[in-house]
Amino acid sequence: MEVRKVGVIGLGAMGAGIAQLCVEAGVDTVGREISDELGERARDRIGHFLTRKVEKGTLGQAERDAAVGRLALTTEVGDLADCDLVIEAIVEELAPKRELFAELDRLTRPEAVLATNTSALSVTEIAAAAERPQRVVGMHFFNPAPLMPLVEIVRAELTGDEAFETAFAFAERIGKTPIRCHDTPGFVVNRVLIPLLNDCVRVLDEARVSPEDLDQGMQGGAGWPMGPCTLLDLVGIDVHVHASEALFEKTRAPRMAPPPRLVAMKNAGLLGRKSGRGFYTYED
Ligand code: CAA
Repeated sequence: MEVRKVGVIGLGAMGAGIAQLCVEAGVDTVGREISDELGERARDRIGHFLTRKVEKGTLGQAERDAAVGRLALTTEVGDLADCDLVIEAIVEELAPKRELFAELDRLTRPEAVLATNTSALSVTEIAAAAERPQRVVGMHFFNPAPLMPLVEIVRAELTGDEAFETAFAFAERIGKTPIRCHDTPGFVVNRVLIPLLNDCVRVLDEARVSPEDLDQGMQGGAGWPMGPCTLLDLVGIDVHVHASEALFEKTRAPRMAPPPRLVAMKNAGLLGRKSGRGFYTYED
């Protein structure tokens, strides 16, 4: 199916990044947040990153302005009724996601594709809230969405071929390299990356190594583009702990469980970049 209009629900770091990709690819996009203020904040964030591209000469000013102009903001889910594809990037909790998919299923056209960007919840459980689960699919982007090439296109138990291939083709259209997978805990990358990052944090204490040295170790010795502590600060300590808990609950594999040090950081509000302090301190 041809996607002419996209809706993005939840314009936090991931949703704003996804909306940015859509408008840059020339697709009319409706972004929904729960308040005007949060919507405007996302638009400013997108405008900022596109301005940086203009400053660096990789995007023209007119293209930048046209891209920002393609983003419409709303606080009403009903304003997404005529979208061909809706991508959900709200809070990582099953109940609100299921409620949203039931509502989207009622108000969008029956052929519209409904995608969730969940990273650790079951797409099948989210899809089960819809009358037409065949049109629900996972589109899992990686942080930061505008920079990371991968999107996992996740087939839930009842996902139909039409929805699956529409999501795959759309990911390609916005410049991503999608891969196909089935709905299993953590899908492909997080199934590997989450226990690996948990191991990294355990090593911090066991080997009595500093975050700086651990980061240097994994960059210099394993070729990681950024060290694990820097990456956890980027992803958000709370996001990572939540995803670890969700995977642990499903797999019961001890390596999936969040290390106590990360849980303590989360409880203390040391969430990484977004709170100004995690393993490192951030001024901006
Ligand atoms: N959105 C849009 N644009 C952004 C951005 C963002 N969030 N962050 C940076 N940019 C833009 C900026 O304009 C920046 O240029 P300026 O600093 O000049 O303004 C430009 O991108 C390039 O940024 P960097 O110089 O920082 O780019 P880099 O070459 O250092 O690469 C990186 C950055 C791609 C993030 C690289 O360090 C990397 O690949 N890191 C690993 C990230 C990773 O593993 N992500 C997966 C996390 S796990 C996950 O997401 C799963 C989950 O479910 C939680």
